[in-house]
Formats: sequence, C-alpha cells, structure tokens
Amino acid sequence: MAALQWTALSAAPTVLLALAIIMPIIMVVNLTRRLFSNASLPNSLPWVGTGHYTGIRGRAKANLSSVLNLRGLLDEGYTKYSKNGQTYVLPYFINGPQVILPMSQIGWLLEQPDDVLSQEQVNRQFLQADYTFLHANLVNDPVHPEIIHHQLTKKINSFADDIADEMRASLEDNWGTDTEAWREVDVYDTMRDVTTRLSTRVFMGLPLCRNRRFLTACSSFIRQVVLAAAAISLFPEVLKPVVAPVFTLYDYIQYRRCSTYLMPIIRERLDRLRDTDKPTLGESKSPNDYVQWAIDHALAKPVVNPMELDPRVIACRFSVLSFAAIQSSVITLTNTLFDLAASPMCTATLSQLHDEVAREIGAASTSNTTTTTSTTTTTPSSSTWSKPTLSRLTHTDSALRESLRLNGFIERGIMKMVVAPGGVTLPDGSHIPRGTKVGVSGYCVHHDDDVYTDALRYDAFRFARDSTGGGGGGGGKKPPWGLVNTSETFMGFSHGLHACPGRFFAANQLKTALGHIALLYEIEPIPERPVNKWFFGHIAPPLGEKLRIRRRKS
Ligand code: HEM
Ligand SMILES: *[C@@H]1O[C@H](CO)[C@@H](O)[C@H](O)[C@H]1NC(C)=O
Ligand SMILES: *[C@@H]1O[C@H](CO)[C@@H](O)[C@H](O)[C@H]1NC(C)=O
Ligand SMILES: *[C@@H]1O[C@H](CO)[C@@H](O)[C@H](O)[C@H]1NC(C)=O
Ligand SMILES: *[C@@H]1O[C@H](CO)[C@@H](O)[C@H](O)[C@H]1NC(C)=O
Repeated sequence: MAALQWTALSAAPTVLLALAIIMPIIMVVNLTRRLFSNASLPNSLPWVGTGHYTGIRGRAKANLSSVLNLRGLLDEGYTKYSKNGQTYVLPYFINGPQVILPMSQIGWLLEQPDDVLSQEQVNRQFLQADYTFLHANLVNDPVHPEIIHHQLTKKINSFADDIADEMRASLEDNWGTDTEAWREVDVYDTMRDVTTRLSTRVFMGLPLCRNRRFLTACSSFIRQVVLAAAAISLFPEVLKPVVAPVFTLYDYIQYRRCSTYLMPIIRERLDRLRDTDKPTLGESKSPNDYVQWAIDHALAKPVVNPMELDPRVIACRFSVLSFAAIQSSVITLTNTLFDLAASPMCTATLSQLHDEVAREIGAASTSNTTTTTSTTTTTPSSSTWSKPTLSRLTHTDSALRESLRLNGFIERGIMKMVVAPGGVTLPDGSHIPRGTKVGVSGYCVHHDDDVYTDALRYDAFRFARDSTGGGGGGGGKKPPWGLVNTSETFMGFSHGLHACPGRFFAANQLKTALGHIALLYEIEPIPERPVNKWFFGHIAPPLGEKLRIRRRKS
C-alpha cells in the first residue's frame, strides 16, 4: 500500500515533465496545422493579406498578418472586395477565418434563421464561454437576454432616482468637488468605479452597491476574458478542458468573492419562496433586484428548469451579466471622454452639453443648488433624470453615439456561425461548410467616407444635426437617430434580432453619466487622443491615461 503510494508520488514529477514536453509539441503542431489550413473554404473566395503568394504559403502569410495587422487586412478587403460587391475571406489566426459579405448582402445575413446562422455561437467562441463563464454554462443562456428584456429594460425608469443619486455620489468620490484646482484623473479607472456602482445599484441596490470588496470582485470578474479566451483558443479542443482552469483561476477567485455576498441573499430568497408556498400573509413588497428577477423569471416558465434555481447558477449568471454591463459601458464612456477632450472644439462642445443638460434638468439644478455648499444637499431633484428628460438630451446622446461609431470596441458588426449541418450557400453561389463564420465588419462601414462625411473625425453632434442618421435611411423626414437605434450603417450594438439587448439600459446609464459630467465638471482639452489598441477583433480604450478635470462653480 505504502509502496504503491510512493511509486505514485515519485511518478508525479515524471508525469509533469512529460506533460511539459508534450503540451508545447501538441500546440506547435496544432498551430502549424491551422496556419496552413484552407478551412475547407471554396477556392472561388479570395483571401486578403496573401500578398503576392498563392496557395498555402499565401494563406500562412495572411494568417500571420491577421495577428499583427488585422486593421490593414480589413481596409484591404473593404476597398478591394466589399466596395465592389464581392465576398472575401478574412483570416483570423486565433479562431479561424471569417467570410465577409459586401454591404448589399446584409439583408440576406439578417434573414437567416438561427438554426442556419447563429450569432450566439460566435460570441461563445470569441469569449470561449464554455470555459470562461464557469457555472453559468450549466444552463443554455449564460448571459440571460430575457431578463434584460423583460425585467431590466422595463423597470429602468423606476430606478432613475437611484441611478442619479449613485452617479453623483460616485463621481464626487472619484473626481472630487474642488472648484479651484485642476485635478488629474485616470479616466478608465475612475469610470470603472462609477459604472460598477451604477450597475450594482440597479442590480442589487443599497447597501451592497457600496461594498468595496463586492464591487472590486464584480468589476474584476472576467474583465480580462478576451485575453484568457485568446489563450484558450490556441489549444486544440481536447486540451481545452485541461488548460482552461489555469487561465480562469483568477476569475474563479473573483467569482468566489462575489458569491460569498450573493449566496446568502439567494438562499434566503429561495427559502422565502418555500415558506410562501402556503397562502401569503400579506407579503408586503417583494424585493426588486437581480436575484428576484432571476427567480421570478425561472418560475414563470411553463416547465421550471431546476438548474435555473440553482444558487450557483444564479450567482454566476449575475457575475457574467455584471461583466457585460460594466465593461462595455466603461469602455464606451472612457472613449467618449477622450474623444471629447481631444476634439478641436472640446471647450465649446462641452459647454454646449452643459447648457443642454442644465436647460433640460431645468430650474431644479440651478435654483436648488445655490442655497447651500454642502455636497449632499446640492443634488438637483433627481427624478428630473427620468426617461423623458434623458430623451431630450439629444446632443449628449449624439456625443456617445458618435464615439461608439468611431471607436466601438469590437471590429465585427454582425457575425454569425454556420450551424446548418450541410453548410450554407451564399448569395454569390459559394457554398461554405458548417462552423464557418460569416458576416460584415462594422469597423469598415463606420469609417467609410461614403457613409459618413469626414468619417475619421469625431464630430460630437453629428447625429443631433443629421436626422437621416448620417447616411442611415436616405432622405425623408424621420425621427432622429438615438444611441439605441441600430442600422446597417450603425452596428456598435450589432444589428437585427440579436442586437445587444442591454443597449436601452446602457444608453440610460451612459446619458446619465455623461450628463452629470457635463453639468458638473470641466475637462481640459488635450492636443492628441491616446490611441486605442487592437487585440485581434477587440479594440481596447486607452488604459492608464489621464485627463485633467475641475468641478464647475455652482
Ligand atoms: C455601451 C454599451 C454596450 C455596447 C457597445 C454593447 C455591445 C454589444 C454587442 C455589439 C453585442 C453583440 C455581440 C455579438 O454577438 O456579436 C452585444 C450583446 C450582448 N450585450 Fe451588449 N453592449 C453594451 C452594453 C450592455 C449592457 C449594459 C448589457 C446588460 C445589461 C449588455 C448585455 C448584452 C448581452 C446579454 C448580449 C448577448 C445577446 C445575445 O446573445 O442575444 N450589453 N452587446
Ligand atoms: C483544402 O485543403 C484540403 C486538404 O488540405 C483539400 O483536400 C481541399 O481540396 C482544399 N480545398 C480547396 C477548396 O482548396
Ligand atoms: C488560420 O488559422 C485558423 C485557426 O487557427 C485556421 O482555421 C485557418 O484555416 C488558418 N488559415 C487562414 C489563412 O486563416
Ligand atoms: C427647488 O427647491 C424648492 C425649495 O427647496 C422647491 O420648492 C422647488 O420645488 C424645487 N424645484 C424643483 C424644480 O424641484
Ligand atoms: C429608435 O428606437 C426607439 C426605441 O426602440 C424607437 O422608438 C424609434 O422609433 C427609433 N428611431 C428610429 C429612427 O428608428
């Protein structure tokens, strides 16, 4: 017995050593195979980035370019093929090439049913969701779009006061209240704290949304998911379950931290549910937070899936939802602030925004703030930040939408994966196999001078002026295009049936946030905008970069 244990123990280093040697070999073989593969795509489709090579050498070169210069390949493909109505293949070393359709075929792309082309599969692959989302995968939808549609978006207006209150408090905590001295702030870090508090205030309410440890864990969970996903993608399928825990260890720790706070709440709610199986004794008011929405939603289904009521699943879905809500909003807000600060019209634009907000927020913000200097009582009557007011902030809305157009954080516009077993035949007649990705690039359309006049310039009020949506709908009197309106020329939230379900919530938060910033602070112009860095199809905002700000007087 002891001897057996001993052999097992002494064998351990040998096994580890063997693994250490075998794993890199498997990886190299796998990556090399990928480098030269044609992904079973028909020869009729041209590849970009092959230079003057043809065949497998061309494909290998293209594959390498996709790592170093994806943007160059996109530009090449767009001018050479898309603009001429042709389909082309964009190599993507990390998880396989994408077939890019010309703009004229977006209609076809949108019409395909989910059992032929699936958008969700692309997201799952891009984020390697099967490995990075932990227990959220015990159910079908790790991100819960229905809860967003049926609960969050519908109830958002009832949170107007809370959001405004949290916005003001968090902004003052991060940017201070000094009206004399300019202060240098790390934009991404401070905005991350602000958006985390805003989201958490809505999802879980007070006092949890002020708990430092909880907030840190929520905003750190799968923040680096793109990196972890890229690392996992490099391994062949069979090895992924083995290596994934290594790359997701940090996230697992963050998730555990979140769940120590969430679990007791979830358990308590589930217990209460059991108790109230009997007729309720005037159950006064049921709580209005994510945990309750998740439980109500699970119970409302004709057939209740017990997994949906598993506390681990609820806690983990909460964490994934927090990630989706926090990261995308903080990135968008950070980009907008840098776009504003670096635009030549910075000061004029900001004062126009200030005037718009001050006007719409009305007498409340001016007459009721001068009475006292204490920070807590200067809050303008916050129900003024309700839906009707926000909808009148058209310039604030445009400043955000314009930033998302110019500096959206994913390159793809609409991207779907072929899931029909027999593959699919494209409008141009080429047949592509199951597993291939097909779509259009939002980045290229957003930067096309033929679609947006002077497309590379940040023009804050572009969408407030131009009621056709900047090339959107061609003539005719139409309602103005707001942040939430997606189109074939505005794909910052994707477009069609699977456009971001969180965009109404996001627009509400972002406008409340930028509105408060414009109302309460000045931003010093900067000569040059720090660049956004590309990481495969993901475009990161400036991290660690600073702006100088000062609280406005009165
Ligand atoms: C400025 C903020 C945001 C931007 C720019 C944004 C953008 C996007 C985009 C482009 C997609 C489609 C991804 C794809 O499949 O290709 C998406 C999906 C999604 N977003 Fe957002 N998003 C934002 C905020 C939010 C918020 C606040 C939430 C949650 C409250 C959210 C939840 C989701 C979910 C659940 C999906 C997946 C939908 C599905 O698979 O059907 N997003 N988002
Ligand atoms: C792709 O490569 C495979 C094997 O390497 C080959 O059998 C197939 O004919 C190629 N397809 C095209 C369209 O070149
Ligand atoms: C590049 O790599 C991907 C995956 O690593 C592979 O599927 C594809 O066939 C390779 N070739 C090109 C030119 O993209
Ligand atoms: C401003 O404050 C005064 C008194 O404090 C109050 O009567 C008035 O309604 C407030 N104005 C708004 C628009 O809330
Ligand atoms: C934008 O979206 C809102 C809300 O979905 C809708 O009411 C409005 O008509 C849309 N505007 C345009 C121009 O499509």
